Amino acid sequence: MATQLFEDKEHASKYQKYRTSPPQEIQDLIFSYLDKRLNKPYELAVDVGCGTGQSTKLLAPHFVKVLGTDISKAQIEEANKVLKLPNTTFRTSPAEEVPVDDASVDLITACAAVHWFDIGKFLKEVDRILKPSGCLAFYSYLPIRDIHYKDRSEQMCKVMSEIDDAINKYEHEKVQRVRNGYKEIFDAIPYTDKLRRDDVIIKVKMPLSDLIGLIQTFSMFQTYYRLEPEKAMDFIKTTEQKFLKIMEVSSSETEVEVCFRYVIVLASKPK
Ligand SMILES: C[S@@+](CC[C@H](N)C(=O)[O-])C[C@H]1O[C@@H](n2cnc3c(N)ncnc32)[C@H](O)[C@@H]1O
Repeated sequence: MATQLFEDKEHASKYQKYRTSPPQEIQDLIFSYLDKRLNKPYELAVDVGCGTGQSTKLLAPHFVKVLGTDISKAQIEEANKVLKLPNTTFRTSPAEEVPVDDASVDLITACAAVHWFDIGKFLKEVDRILKPSGCLAFYSYLPIRDIHYKDRSEQMCKVMSEIDDAINKYEHEKVQRVRNGYKEIFDAIPYTDKLRRDDVIIKVKMPLSDLIGLIQTFSMFQTYYRLEPEKAMDFIKTTEQKFLKIMEVSSSETEVEVCFRYVIVLASKPK
């Protein structure tokens, strides 16, 4: 049974606002891998579990056609509303059944998404749709631990770890695949040409309000919110106040530095 935690319209619009696009370092890793295995021009990329399209839009300049797919109608509606790229289309469909021909895809990507899929079925589908030497790139950031602000990093990180503790009980078991750095997903890939890295650290400056918004997009927070909306929103307000107190500022527009640690799995189908 598919995991459907991203169906809500309000969630989709928060997603569009607060989820950032994959960093340049991740894009560089993907394209340097692909460039060594396939000749240009690249015809088709598919971004599965594309959400509202933040990861999909980065593929557009490199391919003749790009398809973003997601099981959530709300996410696809938001993607279609916000992103109008001539070579990119979005469709509602499960990752385990991608609506493209056999051996037609140069690159298949999944950003912060593959851990939700039925891995056995999905990898069979990947094998069906990839061209010979076509590549896959599955990546995600790990739960956030490091928040920096002036000399207050230790206190800021402590609040972040309290957030993790508080919403942990609402975490779906599949999120453990991310915490494990996609090791089991990597092991399940049937190709010999594959690599996994979990040491890509990206530092991003953002207003505290964006960090608070981002936390609200996490699936565990969304589960908490669905079960106990008032408590969940109180928790968010209290968390924001804790950060502001540590920072000794009154405006949530004050910037903090957030460290994202990424895991990425790359592989190529045999010729
Ligand atoms: C954390 S979001 C990531 C979205 C986007 N790639 C991004 O980076 O912002 C995970 C997405 O995977 C989708 N998803 C979960 N299970 C799926 C499945 N079996 N098939 C397709 N999409 C799925 C969800 O609907 C959700 O939009």
